[in-house]
Amino acid sequence: MTLKRTLGTCYYPEHWPEEMWAEDARRMADLGLTWVRIGEFAWSKLEPAPGDLRFDWLERAMDVLQGAGLKVVLGTPTATPPRWMLDRHPDMLAVDVEGRPRGFGSRRHYCFSHDGYRAESVRITTLLAGRFGGRVEAWQTDNEYGCHDTIYSYSDAARRAFRDWLAQRYQSPDALNRAWGNVFWSMDYDSFDQVNLPNLTVTEPNPAHALDFRRFSSEQVARFNAAQVAAIRKHSDAPISHNYMGRIVEFDHFALGAQMEIATWDSYPLGFLEDRLEETPEHKRHYARQGDPDFQAFHHDLYRAVAAQFPEGDTPRWWVMEQQPGPVNWAPSNPAPAPGMVRLWTWEAFAHGAECVSYFRWRQAPFAQEQYHAGLLRPDSVEAEGFAEAAEVARELADAPEVEIAQAPVALVFDYASAWAWAVQPQGQGCDYFRLVFEIYRGLRKLGLSVDILPPDTARLHGYALVLVPGLITLTDTLMGALQTTSAQVILGPRTNAKTANLSIPVPLPPALPGLDVTVSRVETLRPDMPVAMEGAGHVTLWREQLEGGADVIDRDAEGQPVTMRAGNLTYLGGWPDPDLLRHLLLGACAEAGIPTIDLPPDIRVRQAGTTRFVFNHGPGPVTFEGATLPPAGVVRQTTGAA
Ligand code: GAL
Repeated sequence: MTLKRTLGTCYYPEHWPEEMWAEDARRMADLGLTWVRIGEFAWSKLEPAPGDLRFDWLERAMDVLQGAGLKVVLGTPTATPPRWMLDRHPDMLAVDVEGRPRGFGSRRHYCFSHDGYRAESVRITTLLAGRFGGRVEAWQTDNEYGCHDTIYSYSDAARRAFRDWLAQRYQSPDALNRAWGNVFWSMDYDSFDQVNLPNLTVTEPNPAHALDFRRFSSEQVARFNAAQVAAIRKHSDAPISHNYMGRIVEFDHFALGAQMEIATWDSYPLGFLEDRLEETPEHKRHYARQGDPDFQAFHHDLYRAVAAQFPEGDTPRWWVMEQQPGPVNWAPSNPAPAPGMVRLWTWEAFAHGAECVSYFRWRQAPFAQEQYHAGLLRPDSVEAEGFAEAAEVARELADAPEVEIAQAPVALVFDYASAWAWAVQPQGQGCDYFRLVFEIYRGLRKLGLSVDILPPDTARLHGYALVLVPGLITLTDTLMGALQTTSAQVILGPRTNAKTANLSIPVPLPPALPGLDVTVSRVETLRPDMPVAMEGAGHVTLWREQLEGGADVIDRDAEGQPVTMRAGNLTYLGGWPDPDLLRHLLLGACAEAGIPTIDLPPDIRVRQAGTTRFVFNHGPGPVTFEGATLPPAGVVRQTTGAA
């Protein structure tokens, strides 16, 4: 399967005098852009007072943009409810964990559970879809659900909705008491109306209570989004998307992926490096102008999987809706990208199967919160550094062959609910599910492997030679069944199938996998400065399990305790591997699975797309790889034999 790739940008016509629009549109088209996203924060200009609709300016902006040959993605403006909305719905604000309402004056200040606000969001979406549904080429719902820590709200509206949700789930307070184990500390309830949200408790709340609140909160997002999707579909056949944000795991993106044709995400490699990674200061310094070599790739692969949840169409459609084009403004420090990196990031997305990469934003805004956030243009409309790199990609796309998409040899299962379970009950500082999965992803990439990410309920392991299921707290029956029948090498653990759906320890003890006689008899967590050395390479860090059972012991630590045990093609890993232990395990598994690996230089990453191999230099200096020297930010595209 091959794919036509396009470029785009994010534009805010409401920020600029109307006289500038035509010139902007012409320059976008000349640059070789196909898409322009507009409208997602424009509510106060579309409806300055309740019911006072001013859509004409948006219509004129579309006339200009589409007249220049651009396609429009129209965003629903619901991430920025205008000030008058608070007068209509004073209790619509989300409430933080300390019980304080989150204030007006930035964005995302609504509670997903507020019925009145959800109705307003459907109302404005319906009006926009009615007016523009026939002419826009794509939609975006809202903007970055979950950004700025906005999934959990401890409002009255959330409390009411949570009680309702519990009543439906458990049917009786007794059933809820049993499921949560409320006999512990006399936490039993007589009625659902006694159950509060799991904040402001004296010490930690019951983890089952906290996990249910996370499940509920995730479903509220899905419900909010579904209402907009339904409103759009009444008036428009154009595909619908949402722009997810990096390392936001508080709601189930797969559930939203099932609702919409296109999954998109917002890629800010330098901001993420500073802001969202546990890496060492040396690592962050080394990649300060390049971004982490695996973080973007992980999300590309993740959103390909999210897009694949949409039931119609056989090619997962995913984009980068916002691509960093220069310095951002929101991380602890905000360096400029090294020359060539904007181009590299763009090509990397295409190599992973992106359909479109859209730069955020067209022109840097000289006012309000993001004044120091680069655009493709400077505030004075002169081309900024990123512009030339976007232009270069546009030229390259014009004569580059299409990118193929093919199944990878390795599958890595990712599960949002496991992220919540680990967060509710980490058992030790630093024990974070995303971190574990991402470190394993990095380990795979360092060996030159291309990876498909799969959702937790997948039955489709066919065609994979190696499957990894780290930290997946409760295996679904579907995945359990698929793991029983696959001929792939499978690595499970640590903490895989460790809990029941109510976050209790199951008996028989975990991981309770048919065909693999391994029992986790004890769990301990380790201070970061007390890694346990292996007999061979590397260490167990952070999370350590004591393993018993009749399966073969493959690796032991220096104290003689089993760390990996195996039966047939199933291997259980009873600890958090450091990079050296991980490399040893992956090399062994790849050898068993017959997957060739490459010893990549640290800054090099490769991605196989069908019969094409892309090679990227993420480092600050030139790197010699397979006899050729790649300059910094170098991108090489090679035709290889097979995938
Ligand atoms: C994104 C957001 C944009 C803009 C950008 C700045 O998170 O969707 O609206 O704020 O960050 O980097």
